[in-house]
Amino acid sequence: MKLTPVITQHWDDPTLYTLDGYKSHGGYEALAKALNSDPDSIIALVKDSGLRGRGGAGFPTGLKWSFVPQNDGKPHYLVVNADESEPGACKDIPIMMANPHALVEGVIITSFAIRANHAFIYIRGEVPAAIRKVAYAVKQAREAGLIGKNIQGSGFDLEVTVHSGAGAYICGEETALLDSLEGFRGQPRLKPPFPAIAGLYSSPTVINNVETIANIPYIIDRGVEWFRQFGTEKSPGFKVFAVSGHVQRPGIYEAPLGITMRELLDYAGGMRPGAELKFWIPGGSSVPMLTADHLDLPLTYEAMAEAGTMLGTGTPMVFDQTVSVVKAVTRWLEFYKHESCGKCTPCREGTYWITGVLEKFEHGHGTENEMETLTTLCGQIAGRSFCALGDAAATPYPAAMKYFSHEFTAATHTSADEQFDPIASYVFSGARA
Ligand SMILES: Cc1cc2nc3c(=O)[nH]c(=O)nc-3n(C[C@H](O)[C@H](O)[C@H](O)COP(=O)(O)O)c2cc1C
Ligand code: SF4
Repeated sequence: MKLTPVITQHWDDPTLYTLDGYKSHGGYEALAKALNSDPDSIIALVKDSGLRGRGGAGFPTGLKWSFVPQNDGKPHYLVVNADESEPGACKDIPIMMANPHALVEGVIITSFAIRANHAFIYIRGEVPAAIRKVAYAVKQAREAGLIGKNIQGSGFDLEVTVHSGAGAYICGEETALLDSLEGFRGQPRLKPPFPAIAGLYSSPTVINNVETIANIPYIIDRGVEWFRQFGTEKSPGFKVFAVSGHVQRPGIYEAPLGITMRELLDYAGGMRPGAELKFWIPGGSSVPMLTADHLDLPLTYEAMAEAGTMLGTGTPMVFDQTVSVVKAVTRWLEFYKHESCGKCTPCREGTYWITGVLEKFEHGHGTENEMETLTTLCGQIAGRSFCALGDAAATPYPAAMKYFSHEFTAATHTSADEQFDPIASYVFSGARA
């Protein structure tokens, strides 16, 4: 399958990040079209395109927009989720760095469609370069009359605020993001009500991922049929895949949904010399791992679900034979333990205990019983946590056991370790400061 550069098409143009550079490739023509249309028909068009959210869950974008009540007299908001912090995910930051006006144009069109007069772009605080690029694009768009009062004589007003996060993974969870934006500690909110009904400042709010919004100008400009020629019925369009790990050319590859991992690997130059693929993860550490047996599956939402995983952020991480699955799983759990916001018990306590037990395996001191303990702990978190971070934390171990249980068995302690005191090693030394 061929690559389909769309969002990434002109990334070799060093002026693309400027208004003139973006306009020289047809930028802001979609906005003119949208402003000459009406909000409801834009929502209908995005619905028909079948675009699914690129933030991880793949929720249909047009459908989400249609949940916003119209003519309710309340302010509406658009919030762009640019908090990209998932281990392995690196596609929104490159989009903001290289093509920030695609995001800004998408923000203006989306705000017009959902009748929002204020949009927020919430960007991960650790990437000041991306924040500067987006802030500059917003400034240029404002100076050109594309943001502000009566945009291009349409009567539509829009303010856009670029907001920097403070480095918490949980603030990528959409309702925690809203709390953070309102100035509170970022912790998830109880749903329902969903943000489309009561979001930012209790008003109807659409929250979308950077890549989702960056797709909008191209769909408006080129139409539903053009978009649907790529991908499958259930996963239409193309995707900015970010391939990382032990490949020759890690990087961004924009391709139709439905491309296989084997093809993406070829584009990435294959494995490094001497490296053999051991396992790979389709989209961030929160989705279950796969093996070389799955290289020919289409990278679509439906095929990944059938294989017992998820497309997630579509940012495959590739690992070779030198990587210990036990170590990899332990590192991820350390991340989730660190990032757990502490609001609910299963995740706050569960990630702490799983990590402690995993660290024993990492040092070759696990026991057969503790393999069971890990399974039980994961079962007590999955589906019992307040938000999806808990579910994500419960994912890596069961997935690893499906394909690599022998590595955990090999990490159990033997008679040579009889003097080892597991309690002293992980319970007391791991006590929280
Ligand atoms: C812990 C956690 C972190 C998340 N981080 C992000 C993120 O950085 N960016 C993002 O777009 N979605 C993230 N999400 C998903 C969002 O909650 C939400 O589903 C998404 O922004 C919706 O956008 P979309 O419909 O365009 O995909 C995260 C979810 C969880 C549970
Ligand atoms: S699952 Fe974890 S991150 Fe989510 S609310 Fe509970 S403690 Fe916080």
